[in-house]
Amino acid sequence: MHTLLIVDDEKATRDALRMALEESFDCYLAADLTQAEQVLKSEDIDLLLTDLRLGGDSGMKVLDAALELKSPPVSVMMTAYGSVDTAVEAMRRGAWHFVTKPLNLDEVELLLKRAVRSRGLEKKNEELVIENETLKKKTGSKNYGLARLIGKSAPMERIAEKITQIAPTRATVLIEGESGTGKELVAHALHDLSGRPKEKFVAVNCAALSAQLLESELFGHEKGAFTGATQRRVGRFEQAHGGTLFLDEIGEIDPATQVKLLRSLSERTIERVGSNNPVEIDVRVVTATNKHLADLVEKGDFREDLYFRLNVLSVKMPPLRDRREDIVLLASNFLEEFARENNRPIKPLSDAALTRLLSYSWPGNVRELRTAIEHAVVMSNQDTLDLFHLPDFLDEPKRAADPQSEKNTLAPMDEFNLHAQEQRAIRGALAATGGNRTKAAILLGISRRTLQRKLQDAPPTERHTS
Ligand SMILES: Nc1ncnc2c1ncn2[C@@H]1O[C@H](COP(=O)(O)OP(=O)(O)OP(=O)(O)O)[C@@H](O)[C@H]1O
Ligand SMILES: [Mg+2]
Repeated sequence: MHTLLIVDDEKATRDALRMALEESFDCYLAADLTQAEQVLKSEDIDLLLTDLRLGGDSGMKVLDAALELKSPPVSVMMTAYGSVDTAVEAMRRGAWHFVTKPLNLDEVELLLKRAVRSRGLEKKNEELVIENETLKKKTGSKNYGLARLIGKSAPMERIAEKITQIAPTRATVLIEGESGTGKELVAHALHDLSGRPKEKFVAVNCAALSAQLLESELFGHEKGAFTGATQRRVGRFEQAHGGTLFLDEIGEIDPATQVKLLRSLSERTIERVGSNNPVEIDVRVVTATNKHLADLVEKGDFREDLYFRLNVLSVKMPPLRDRREDIVLLASNFLEEFARENNRPIKPLSDAALTRLLSYSWPGNVRELRTAIEHAVVMSNQDTLDLFHLPDFLDEPKRAADPQSEKNTLAPMDEFNLHAQEQRAIRGALAATGGNRTKAAILLGISRRTLQRKLQDAPPTERHTS
């Protein structure tokens, strides 16, 4: 069980928190700074939950003391309703998150559990990065691990955690998700973190080949196996021996190849076309589809037995519209990438442009966002990237058809949503910059003072989500 230090000067709050949390955490209590410092020194504390106001002292001091430790706990600050400024300040100093009082105990528990998960992951990632560095030096090949998979939203955090967990196993993985959600990136990450990343990653796009070509592509063929087979050819399965075989668009494979694939997976051997000699293979198979494979099974287009073979482990990529918190972070990364690539200065997005990015439905998901940012970087001849630098297709059809809205620089929704969108943009920017207001303001293309004012405008319900 993880250790949790609860610091609050009110006994009632301490007791309530202990009662709510002691089933999940090994709880320690402190009523003031001195007591807190003592516990931090003598115990190995994983999590710190401290009130900001501790009688005469500030919870910031507890935070500072915690951060000085060799392995500091993940810290969550409790603040009074309405003091979002100090909360942001606490995050800037190194707190992981904050909650506002009055506390919702269930929420606090969920948040602390998320904190443990994210910390566990960070530690693992650090180790992997070091491993990868050594590996890169040894092999000269790039190993990114999870680094290329950008996103801090709760669904993306869960996906990163899952990838780390399942990557070292040999079980087949089915990655499902709409086009452009990052399925191929996930397949690469699974390979990079597999523990045998020095071995090959071999990808086959099953939709791009005719049935016969696909079969010989996957399994290889003997000389003379069919007209045109003038030479013996080693298939992708054999090429991937020891490593990962990524079968993209698996929903497109024809019935005959489905049978052959099923047999290869269950027997761990393959037969080249035109040969009866089984060849042993040791390959981790990862597949991806933007279709719902279970539906294809239902319709009789995909073998159920093969589906179960492929779907031992699964990763479901959420569409971008369901994790809008990631938009700002993704956009700023792509912005940097394309500015560098095109030798242009990095410019902030205007308020209007950002609002549009946040309200658009992104049917093409992250790929579409990436293209939109590239477009804007190339088109902009000003100091900011503005609405009219974005591609036209970001105008939702409803809006384009309505001449009334032409002057309106905002997304199709309406003013009712405007405030929520703005707050989402602000939260996204703060998350993207680790709570640094100055940088967040730059990212949003507004002054720091405006940001400050907008933060004060935030209704209480929006204050404690990140
Ligand atoms: N989380 C992410 N972070 C950074 N870049 C991403 C992310 N997700 C997707 N991308 C980028 O978006 C583009 C599309 O990603 P990818 O090819 O992995 O999507 P996909 O799900 O395989 O799509 P499709 O079904 O069309 O093949 C790539 O340029 C990829 O680098
Ligand atoms: Mg793909």
